[in-house]
Amino acid sequence: MIQKYNAVNKIKGELNLPGDKSISHRAVIFSGMADGKSEIFNCSNGEDVKSSIACFKELGCNIEYTENSIIIEGKGKFEFNNKDVVLDAGNSGTTCRLISGLLAAQNFISTIIGDESLSKRPMDRIVEPLTTMGANISAINNKLPITIKPAVKLKAMEHTLKVASAQVKSAIVLAALHLDEKTTIIENVKTRNHTEKMLGLDVIEENGKSIISVSSKNYPVPNTYIVPADISSAAFFIVFALLNKNSELKINNVLLNESRAGIITVLKEMGANIEVINYYKNGEEISGDIVVKSSKLTNINIDKNIIPNIIDEIPILSLAGIFAEGKFEVHNAEELRYKETDRIKSLVENYNKLGLNTEEYVDGFSVQGKILNNDILFESFGDHRIAMTFAILSMLSENGGSINNFDCVNISNPNFNNQINSIIG
Ligand code: S3P
Repeated sequence: MIQKYNAVNKIKGELNLPGDKSISHRAVIFSGMADGKSEIFNCSNGEDVKSSIACFKELGCNIEYTENSIIIEGKGKFEFNNKDVVLDAGNSGTTCRLISGLLAAQNFISTIIGDESLSKRPMDRIVEPLTTMGANISAINNKLPITIKPAVKLKAMEHTLKVASAQVKSAIVLAALHLDEKTTIIENVKTRNHTEKMLGLDVIEENGKSIISVSSKNYPVPNTYIVPADISSAAFFIVFALLNKNSELKINNVLLNESRAGIITVLKEMGANIEVINYYKNGEEISGDIVVKSSKLTNINIDKNIIPNIIDEIPILSLAGIFAEGKFEVHNAEELRYKETDRIKSLVENYNKLGLNTEEYVDGFSVQGKILNNDILFESFGDHRIAMTFAILSMLSENGGSINNFDCVNISNPNFNNQINSIIG
């Protein structure tokens, strides 16, 4: 589907966004693993989290939707259907990688498949550490499908993460939850820490490293999860409001976890007028109501340690960079190439259509200049974050613009257009 957007003159109002995707995935997974009923409020309604839900249905969990929650009857340790299964992770790297760790500890054979995009993404990053733990896991050419057979003996380990990836860290944690001995994971560069917070894992911070301990004593129990609004979805509206000349936007109860709020830190350093007016705490997660007003931005140097914290927001951050003083440049972000699309290529290709000066690096890109061409048909490449980035860019352009294959926004935020319509003047 081609979606057309016209220029927007004014942004005003208030948004309540669906729950954070990363937390929702984990809430579904931990609920499915726990022995008994858990309830999730404000769960992400995107296709990705639906993929996690579908996998747990397939594993035998009873899942029920109420008007404003999802009730999951978890099976408890080693109590899944115990029949061989094929699980479809759809477009979702988080579903696929996290459940691999869980499946490595089971006594049945499972195969994980996914869509075309997920089938191109690297899986050696989980196959290697899980194999070191004794898992019987294989992926031909390190891509999907992944086949997991019962392990002869799964064992605890001490492991330093090779890739700064919360998905890899969580896959190891999920396997380690089935072992009485302690597994230790060392993270040299901090990644999102929802798994640690939600399971109450011991984390020691030492010389910039995180040392995470996990064992069967952290195995999830039935719980009630209240998921704050997704900061990665909010980022599109934040940048839209900052760049629009006439805006005041409130976004309620946005996740402000320290490993996720880097986008706000970076935008503020660029000169953004973003204010947190109320703070809330749910379990170990912090959230807040934020108010965003039109701002004049200047590009800054983006520190390499903040990259994992803003990795999903780099597409929309680069858009802020085009409208800011100076050149937008990002390095140490090769991971962008392994997301739903090669996001470095997807962004640069679309920016080139506008006549901007771009440069592509192995680990990043730069973009600068004046927008010369108008009313462009941008390509989403089937990537939700690329689609939404260019939707915002179209609404900031005098003659608007269109996005090809826009339906992919359903992956993280199916109500994107309704939310936009509710705040534009
Ligand atoms: C996620 C971790 C990140 C992120 C992804 C969600 C998670 O990926 O890009 O959208 O929920 O753990 P990596 O772990 O591959 O960095």
